[in-house]
Formats: sequence, structure tokens, C-alpha cells
Amino acid sequence: MIPDLAEFLKLCVENRLNIVVSGGTGSGKTTTLNVLSSFIPSGERIVTIEDAAELQLRQGHVISLESRPPNMEGKGAITIRELVRNALRMRPDRIVVGEVRSGEALDMLQAMNTGHDGSLTTGHANTPRDMLARLETMVLMAGMDLPLRAIREQIASAINLIVQQNRDKNGKRKITELVAILGIEGENIITQNLYHLDKKEGNLVPTLGRSKVISVLEGYGINAPDWLREVD
Ligand SMILES: Nc1ncnc2c1ncn2[C@@H]1O[C@H](COP(=O)(O)OP(=O)(O)OP(=O)(O)O)[C@@H](O)[C@H]1O
Ligand SMILES: [Mg+2]
Repeated sequence: MIPDLAEFLKLCVENRLNIVVSGGTGSGKTTTLNVLSSFIPSGERIVTIEDAAELQLRQGHVISLESRPPNMEGKGAITIRELVRNALRMRPDRIVVGEVRSGEALDMLQAMNTGHDGSLTTGHANTPRDMLARLETMVLMAGMDLPLRAIREQIASAINLIVQQNRDKNGKRKITELVAILGIEGENIITQNLYHLDKKEGNLVPTLGRSKVISVLEGYGINAPDWLREVD
């Protein structure tokens, strides 16, 4: 990524935006999630939920929960979904879920919408739009039979940012896009691209002028810091 984006993401994590890191298999999602988690201020109570303990948080108040596969008799499994539900009773300031794949997405979105803002997770998708569609499918997997419009509203109000990560054909892993979720209009989730990959240069560039970025931040209730206000 570029230094500007690193600063920007730090600001977003500190100000409790809900962030999903999206990417393909082995694209570096967990690595990026680790970096984002490191920006959580140290006084906060964090619950991490994973299939295999990959996150390495250095903050003082971290509770790590790990899922468990069933035994030989097919019993005793503990799912990510159960862990997310349990985590909410632990009154965390933040929930970090290693990866959402299924019905736990619904519990996670509900948590994000009910005061556990600043939560972080990753998901498998090749573009931010794809990630939004994947989230819809995952929520349906929770088996609650919710109407599509209600699901999209949950997604749009819960998720603030999607960080897209990709592995290019040379094997290079990069953040390729940063997208803000602005809300919903009719049936459609409205997004705004903040950074994108310049195909010719091969590096990440801001999509908007700084004043636009500042207004997106203000929409989230974040005061833009001086470094972002400086004219380029
Ligand atoms: N920006 C990067 N530059 C170089 N190597 C990286 C980068 N990010 C991650 N890696 C390396 O790529 C490998 C895969 O990273 P990681 O486990 O974070 O990906 P993932 O998308 O979470 O994978 P999975 O799909 O298995 O969950 C690791 O060996 C990691 O150290
Ligand atoms: Mg991973």
C-alpha cells in the first residue's frame, strides 16, 4: 500500500469504522487484518474469533476464541457463529473475526449495528461489489428468511469500508482498492471508491480530491486530521 493509505486506514480503525478486508485465496487478507487490528487503541477490550489462531494482537485486553471441528462421532463442534454470539456477552469494545464464510455474517452485522462498531473481518471475494453480494449470500445462510431489502439495509448500515486485496499474476500481493459504503438508495447499496490501482503505473492512487475524502469522513462523523487537510 502507499503511506497515505496506511495513515488513512489507521484513522478509520481508531475512529471505529467497521471494515471488511476482501480478497481471493492467499491474497494477504489475514496479514492485512493483523495490521488493521494493530491500530486498535491499547485500552480497548478486544475479542478475536478464528478457525486457527493467526492474529497476533499486542494490546493488553485481548480474548482469543477459536472454533473447533466435530470429533469422530460428529459431536462437540464449536462454530464461528456460536463464538460470535458468545463474544457479544463478553461486552467487547471490538470484535475481530478472522474470516466470515457463512451465517455468522448475520450475527456480525447485527453486532456492528448495535454498538460494537470498529469491528474487523475478512471475506473471500475478488472485488468490493462481489464482497457485498457474498455477504448477502452468507446472511441467507443464517436461515432467517429475511427479505433481500432488509439484508442490504443491514449490510449498508453495518459496513463502512471494504479493503480489497489481490494477488496479481506476478504473485505480488497488494491492496488494490478502498471503497466506502455510503448507504442505500432503493435496492442498491451506494459505494464510493476512495483509492484504486492505477493500471498504467501499477500503484495505488487516491480516486477523489482531498475535499471529497474529507466529506466522506465527515459523513462517518470523523474530523479530518490536519495532514489530510493540507493542500497537495
Ligand atoms: N503484502 C504482502 N507482500 C508479500 N507477502 C505477503 C503480503 N501479504 C501477505 N503476504 C504473505 O502471503 C501469504 C498469504 O497471506 P495471508 O495468510 O495473509 O492471506 P489470506 O488471504 O488470509 O489467505 P487465506 O485465503 O489462506 O486465508 C503469507 O505467507 C503472507 O506472509
Ligand atoms: Mg486468511
